[in-house]
Amino acid sequence: TPTREFVTGLPKAELHLHLEGTLEPDLKLRLAQRNGIDIGQSTVEEVRATYAFDSLTSFLAVYYPAMEVLQTADDFYELADAYLARAAADGVKHVEMFFDPQAHTSRGVPFEAVVTGYHRAAAEAPAKHGIDAHLILCFLRDLSAESAAETLEASVPFRDKILGVGLDSDERDNPPQKFADVFARARELGYRLTMHCDIDQVGSIDNIRTVLDEIGVDRVDHGTNVVEDPALVDVVRDRGLGLTTCPISNSFVTDDMKATEIAGLLRSGVRVTVNSDDPAYFGGYVADNYVALAEAAGLTTEEVVQLARNSFEASWLGNSQRAAYL
Ligand code: HPA
Ligand code: ZN
Repeated sequence: TPTREFVTGLPKAELHLHLEGTLEPDLKLRLAQRNGIDIGQSTVEEVRATYAFDSLTSFLAVYYPAMEVLQTADDFYELADAYLARAAADGVKHVEMFFDPQAHTSRGVPFEAVVTGYHRAAAEAPAKHGIDAHLILCFLRDLSAESAAETLEASVPFRDKILGVGLDSDERDNPPQKFADVFARARELGYRLTMHCDIDQVGSIDNIRTVLDEIGVDRVDHGTNVVEDPALVDVVRDRGLGLTTCPISNSFVTDDMKATEIAGLLRSGVRVTVNSDDPAYFGGYVADNYVALAEAAGLTTEEVVQLARNSFEASWLGNSQRAAYL
């Protein structure tokens, strides 16, 4: 199994990272103070104690309320900039970062403050951190399709600042079909498409089939349950479709890293990638996720190198830029 130093030194792309999931306790406290918000916690230990959950639903119940400290474009900038510094230290060279505008606009924060703050950090990232950084707008699937459609239209003036769209939040009773029209419109607007198919959901395998056949995504976030249908694994491999897995996140929301499943997909030739999801909440950035998976699954050095290659191959870089990393 390769060492942590080896993993850190390997150039990597991170493709499944929620910016709101990078809110470390110290930054949360600093933003709360600056914005005059009483969050009910005053030390890092007290904030960390609230970061406790054992399922996707219980995680989301902690995650959304914590975002109240994010108010201004500067707050979003600082959050993204802190993540980019941390990612650079882990050897990340390219990142496609999710953000949840509806989690902010629903609290009265202007869409423009969210996008311009995050985008300023992304635009500075090549010179400041040596990272090429892009944004993926995620719709919250537990809100209505109408709300997603309104959010998509609100993004149009910022089209050049956003690479693609995704779908996150609670998958239960919110299947991909609910957003078929929104995603069709997003494709017309020129956005790349991805959707979460979370771990061990009711109907996970059906949802994976739907995102491939009906939505026509360019990538699948998590998607690890595809192992339940070997014929579908072949389809994913043959199309070269990226799966963005998140080992440490899996171990929080299901008590199982799914190392066997992820390693099996890798060894079947599927373009599987390793990512951190919500690192401030799950306690591991991307290098930690590579190391945890490598140890749990007994990955060889060659397999870890393949994971890093996959991360660029599954990215939405243009062909010539991608070639520079391979
Ligand atoms: N799944 C669904 N919603 C999320 C996730 C996730 O992995 N991370 C942040 N919001
Ligand atoms: Zn996620």
